[in-house]
Amino acid sequence: MIDESRVAGGALSPDGVAAEDVLASVRRLRSADRPTHGGRLFAYVYDPAVPGLDELAAAAHRESAHVNGLDPTAFPSLLAMENALVGAAGRVLGGGPGTTAPDVVGSVTSGGTESLILAVKTARDAHPEITAPRIVVPSTAHAAFAKAAHYLRVALDVVPVPVATLRPDPAAMAAAIRPETVLVACSAPSYAHGVVDPVAEIAAVAADAGVRCHVDACFGGWTLPYLRRLGEPVPAFDFAVPGVTSISVDLHKYAYAPKGVSVLLHRNAALRAPQYFAYADWPGYTMINPVIASTRSGGPIAAAYATLRHIGDAGYLRLATVTRDAVASLADAVRAVDGLRLMAEPESTVVCFTATEGGPDLFVLVDELTERGWHTQPQLSYAGLPASVHLTVTAAVAPRVAEFGPDLAEAVAAARAAGPVRLPAELAALVGALTPEALTPELVVGLAAGLGLGGPGAGNESGAGNGPGAGSGPGSGPLPERMALVNTLLDAAPPAPRERLLVEFVGLLQRPDWGSAD
Ligand SMILES: Cc1ncc(COP(=O)(O)O)c(C=O)c1O
Repeated sequence: MIDESRVAGGALSPDGVAAEDVLASVRRLRSADRPTHGGRLFAYVYDPAVPGLDELAAAAHRESAHVNGLDPTAFPSLLAMENALVGAAGRVLGGGPGTTAPDVVGSVTSGGTESLILAVKTARDAHPEITAPRIVVPSTAHAAFAKAAHYLRVALDVVPVPVATLRPDPAAMAAAIRPETVLVACSAPSYAHGVVDPVAEIAAVAADAGVRCHVDACFGGWTLPYLRRLGEPVPAFDFAVPGVTSISVDLHKYAYAPKGVSVLLHRNAALRAPQYFAYADWPGYTMINPVIASTRSGGPIAAAYATLRHIGDAGYLRLATVTRDAVASLADAVRAVDGLRLMAEPESTVVCFTATEGGPDLFVLVDELTERGWHTQPQLSYAGLPASVHLTVTAAVAPRVAEFGPDLAEAVAAARAAGPVRLPAELAALVGALTPEALTPELVVGLAAGLGLGGPGAGNESGAGNGPGAGSGPGSGPLPERMALVNTLLDAAPPAPRERLLVEFVGLLQRPDWGSAD
């Protein structure tokens, strides 16, 4: 059958396609994805398993999808909902009337990365006199800070965290502050290991130096306060801490809103002021943007508003309870298996484990878990930290945790039986010594083909010429079904060529001749 979507230019069909056929093709495409619901995917999605919530959020999204946040005076509904979200986030994070931070203000952004870029931009632009601004972050801080530094031409001073605690040392953070430092940041908790940084101590050293302190609570800002209410020993990390000047919290994570909504809060409006961009020096409308995007759909904001209203405070407390219990059971399951150890005792909603000496190959284990229907996230080794497996635990996991332990034990046994992935010696030597400059496009294509990236047939003779996407059916996408070889290769590469390799691999996938629906 001729694939018209390829021939005629991707999504643009020649004569239009009937609605039900279009939806059927979306569903067909979606069937190749990891399961977003059902509690077996431990990354990327946040599922509370609240009946009817998806439908409610979708209906709210539909109501506001065409509303434009570009001009809040034209669409006061959006302003009202955005203010309600900021108000809720402020209250959850220790701001608002009757607290030590009554003047908290904020903005809704598209996600954690945008919130962090804006936190850095705001701190940078608060000091126009500093010509070469810098920020200080622990090595466990989210990669979005590096992206912010890169986009904004701010130097990034990374403070290594002790391997034993995975928590930054406030004295080391203090020592990294220089006269040009405009922001000190920390995490509550870190994504990789779920560890809550010593926020009070870090904020104190930042305040002593007269520098802003941002708490990246994108991941845990919505759960830690509820865990504290449940009696968990959550250290102070919010606006109750003097010296904390801004906090980010993603509503599309543990507030369980559909994707596209984070909140960036500032302790007061004066601290927020440099966040805005205004421009009147052109013949069109005066542009005044609090966030990076100018035109913004009201859809995600309305969906988040509906989600918060529907779940409510009591609902979030209940969801935190089942999530906490699920975390405890999953951690027990890891402790029960010989050959694995937790990277850190869980103190939030992450379970992260690694292999002990003589334990299974983690990348093979991840594949074995995938075969058993559990989708975990491998994390590559880095600066003295071993490779690890990350589980983001959400409420939907709770009913399934009893199944995880036996499957984990079985997967570990299978991974041991299969043995570790061994890169051919010359490939390991090549990758270990790679520099980004040495990675020619030909070398990348050859490597990708050898690894099975680019769909079935890529890299073997019979498939030569078919190109990516030639296959159909389960497992015939652009990635091989088993990823251990790819992960082992990436793990062997130092960070700079690792980045380049990934950019090139993803570049191979992002081609317009991909994405055929039929
Ligand atoms: C701690 C932390 N900060 C920032 C981010 C970036 O968020 P996003 O993926 O929404 O841009 C994440 C994402 O996982 C995170 O865990």
